[in-house]
Amino acid sequence: MTDVRVARFDEIADGDHRVFSTGKREVGVFRVGDKLFAWENHCPHSGGPVCQGKIFPRVEEALDDEKKSLGLKFSQRRNIVCPWHGFEFDIETGLHPGDPDVRLRKIPVAVRDGDIVLTLPG
Ligand code: FES
Repeated sequence: MTDVRVARFDEIADGDHRVFSTGKREVGVFRVGDKLFAWENHCPHSGGPVCQGKIFPRVEEALDDEKKSLGLKFSQRRNIVCPWHGFEFDIETGLHPGDPDVRLRKIPVAVRDGDIVLTLPG
């Protein structure tokens, strides 16, 4: 494991993200409020640069008691969409919404003395 400082926390605005090259791998760091989430920039589908995709609010369908649709609405949660083939992943969990076995690889991230620090596997 290797700790790597990549940026100051305040360099990433709330709701924004950046992709850092850290030698052997690229890592996307996403800020949601005061939290950070970091994912390897490697899509589990075919290796695309998933962290460089567009981010959209998740679309959810509300159902009544009889499971009839009440229409679609945007969620507070957001997904990143892989630019190669469109797989989506929750930026907070790294999970594909349709298959929890398909997920992004998490990279431990912390803020130390105002710096964003990634803990990279060896
Ligand atoms: S490589 Fe990401 S969806 Fe195919």
